Amino acid sequence: MFKGVLFDLDGVITDTAEYHFLAWKKLADDLGIEIDREFNEKLKGVSREDSLTLILEHGHKLEEISAEKFAELAKEKNENYVEMIQAISPKDIYPGILELLTELKENDIKIALASASKNGPLLLDKMEISHFFDAIVDPASLKAGKPAPDIFLAAAKAVGISINDAIGVEDAKAGITAIKASGALPVGVGQKDELGHDIAIVPDTSHLSLSYLTTVWNEK
Ligand code: G6P
Ligand code: MG
Repeated sequence: MFKGVLFDLDGVITDTAEYHFLAWKKLADDLGIEIDREFNEKLKGVSREDSLTLILEHGHKLEEISAEKFAELAKEKNENYVEMIQAISPKDIYPGILELLTELKENDIKIALASASKNGPLLLDKMEISHFFDAIVDPASLKAGKPAPDIFLAAAKAVGISINDAIGVEDAKAGITAIKASGALPVGVGQKDELGHDIAIVPDTSHLSLSYLTTVWNEK
């Protein structure tokens, strides 16, 4: 049986992946760079700085942006994003997530947050679910972001379990790659064509439950 579940946040616990997209889209529009939802798939799970680099590269503007301007743009995107998430509340938790967190707690299964977002703790507070989490990894403490496995390895360590006893839940390609590289068992939320045909995928979080995760674990 697995001993812990390592959760991504944006697009897994709530719909903030959409707000990240809208905030990046506004910044890109202002810079005269076109980004669409297909391009956005590359940004999911990727840190603020790495996302900005990808957008500037996409618009052939990376070379002309000074380090100072880069920092300003990253700050501007975050301020816009933080404004968008102010109204987030418990009613924004995705279907099934609260029930899953409750079941995991009742069964002494560790719960960790493995999100690249520096806004993770704020969002958990707004949704009033911080108390479920035995550990929240600080993404600033890591050498490499997703798709590197570091954040999942750090999450398992923080809750005192072996990574081989953990399930990771992700909605992003970069996140699934990170889970696979870490040695945890991946469970994807989304589309098989985006996340892969070789792992367990649910179309949305209402399908996630302790019984579902146990079945996936026993079949691995
Ligand atoms: C998550 C999201 C990304 C976001 C990153 C950093 O991984 O999926 O879209 O860029 O966190 O978030 P932050 O809130 O720190 O800018
Ligand atoms: Mg995500």
